Amino acid sequence: MATSEDAPADIRREVDSLRERVEHHNRQYHTLDRPEITDAEYDALLARLEELETRFGLQSPDSPSQRVGGKPLPDLAAVRHELPMLSLDKAFNEGEFRQFASRAAKWAEIEAELAFCCEPKVDGVAVSLMYRDGALERGATRGDGASGEDITHNIRTIRDIPLRLDGENLGGTRIEIRGEVFLGKPGFAALNARVREEEGRTYINPRNTAAGAIRQLDPRNTARLPLEMFCYSVGVFEGLTLPPTLFETFSLLDAWGLATNPGRRLCAGVDDCLTYCRELLEKRSGLDYEIDGAVIKLNRLDLQRKLGQTARSPRWAVAWKFPAEEKSAKVLAVDFQVGRTGTITPVARLDPVFVGGVTVSNATLHNMDEIAKLGLCVGDTVVVRRAGDVIPQIVQVLKQGEERGEVAMPTACPACGSPIEPDGEIQFRCTAGLICPAQRRQAVGHFASRAAMDIEGLGEKLIGQLVDSGKVRTVADIYRLQAEELAECERMGPKSAANLVAAIAKSRQTSLGRFLAALGIREVGDATAAALADHFGDLDPLLQADAEALMAVPDVGEIVAERIRDFFSNPDNLALIAALREAGVNWPAQEPRGLGEKPLAGQTFVLTGTLAGMTRNDAKSRLAALGAKVAGSVSKRTDCVIAGENAGSKLAKAQELGIRTLDEPAFIDFLQQHSGGA
Ligand code: IVH
Repeated sequence: MATSEDAPADIRREVDSLRERVEHHNRQYHTLDRPEITDAEYDALLARLEELETRFGLQSPDSPSQRVGGKPLPDLAAVRHELPMLSLDKAFNEGEFRQFASRAAKWAEIEAELAFCCEPKVDGVAVSLMYRDGALERGATRGDGASGEDITHNIRTIRDIPLRLDGENLGGTRIEIRGEVFLGKPGFAALNARVREEEGRTYINPRNTAAGAIRQLDPRNTARLPLEMFCYSVGVFEGLTLPPTLFETFSLLDAWGLATNPGRRLCAGVDDCLTYCRELLEKRSGLDYEIDGAVIKLNRLDLQRKLGQTARSPRWAVAWKFPAEEKSAKVLAVDFQVGRTGTITPVARLDPVFVGGVTVSNATLHNMDEIAKLGLCVGDTVVVRRAGDVIPQIVQVLKQGEERGEVAMPTACPACGSPIEPDGEIQFRCTAGLICPAQRRQAVGHFASRAAMDIEGLGEKLIGQLVDSGKVRTVADIYRLQAEELAECERMGPKSAANLVAAIAKSRQTSLGRFLAALGIREVGDATAAALADHFGDLDPLLQADAEALMAVPDVGEIVAERIRDFFSNPDNLALIAALREAGVNWPAQEPRGLGEKPLAGQTFVLTGTLAGMTRNDAKSRLAALGAKVAGSVSKRTDCVIAGENAGSKLAKAQELGIRTLDEPAFIDFLQQHSGGA
């Protein structure tokens, strides 16, 4: 194959010029929204670049042809931030903002009015981009502020982010650019239109979608989303000087080809800032991206340094938070929804309103007490509020309807007609469990969801059909679905059926955390599931764990421990787990973190013969969970041989070498002794 050394000088020049041109047009198109050439012309440039790079071995990671390259990663590596990524103090009103400004003036020891750089506070995900010698070296998430995750492979797919800065004299420099990655409103709408069509589901909100996208292991998944970025600050920098003010720094970043927010403004003094915030609030709904406030920063960088920071936030900046958006809407009906665990919740059906970045047509009313407190009837006009992630809320009744329908709790489950009973003080629950189709549908939906088994293409509508037709009774049935029967469902062609079968097959290989989250144990969300997985390392030690052992896991208290015990002592649940394992669902056992020094660490075991009460894999993973290594053959280094029925030569060899042997009952005792101690 040709190497870069072989490439003639004119080819190298052409490649360099093509890279520049492709990057230039990327920026014109994606960042500035001012395309200068047609898509076909752009594609032709890119195709020529790719051809020359391949022919002459000139591929390079900072080439715009390489935005989506490489294989999916096994996991995201940790990145320590050289300077912490801080958060911002908040001001919710004029008084709080004036306080911030006068404190800043005092610390700055400046008499004259201070100048501030005001910017929209974009509702996205903070990232850090490190450029070395002008080339993008690494992208990272904010994480906990001290360290984040390496997401370079995904950052490279974002067209707003230049792979190479367009500046002179960047050799020998290092500069970290920080900013917000987000999905704009038009991009989000287009994305949802596409996934609704292709997968029958939609993303709920742009910020969470962006946050999920930048943490993908496979950059192809990230590249499918129209992510954008605005840069808002510089972190570490070496080998160059920055202009004296933030406003001028933004112009420099612009000149380098980075995307900065055109909505920023240099404000002379406090009143100017307040005007900016008020105007921004007015403009909010007309912007192409979601914002949740303004960020106001001292403009002079020397003063920023002088004021410094607390452990959490800089003293030279503040976030002016907008109030949660509110709109009015008419209540068309109140329905009762049956949740995954049977809880019956009243839900208001609203005349759709666009509020806080989404169209809201349902709002939960939580329980009957809430309805009584609001004094709400069907037909009333209510105030709906939505902020960020928060589920739309009904704040108050604005105007009573002319014809008012009182809301009453049904006496039977609206989905299956089974009796409902009170659950605690204010909740009601359907008593039918997984016989209730509503609970079943939701259990399946939960199982397939992104944070659980992540089965792409198994959306709500399809689940409804599969459950209602009896094709899926328990989640284990998912693994028996054939492409032909899926293709019979509405809105499913042979291609999407085949894709779904492939997605189901892929989901078999999972992690313990996801599997536990997928089971839908009450009170065990994905964070607790991950903590349990981390602590126990594998399922079997978790199945054995008593309440005390469970409570050793961070975040697991008495109630959660009891829910987990309840779940794992229910034979139906154990049968379901067995059926899932039998269907091939598996996960790698991991080092249990919470079990301290493992009792069998450093010991080697050998299994031979047939065990009646457990599979060989189970025996292996239980030994592994206790820290033992399981080897295939007996040698002097073997510590113990587990001999089931019909054990042959390995048992004989162990006896010959004087190695400890255990038959099955002794092995079970042994496991119990050691797990009990853990
Ligand atoms: S400046 C020292 N500017 O808001 C912190 N942050 O609540 C520097 N954000 O983590 C942040 N738009 O992710 C800054 N124009 C903007 C911003 C912005 C959004 C986010 C950022 C930060 C969070 C702090």
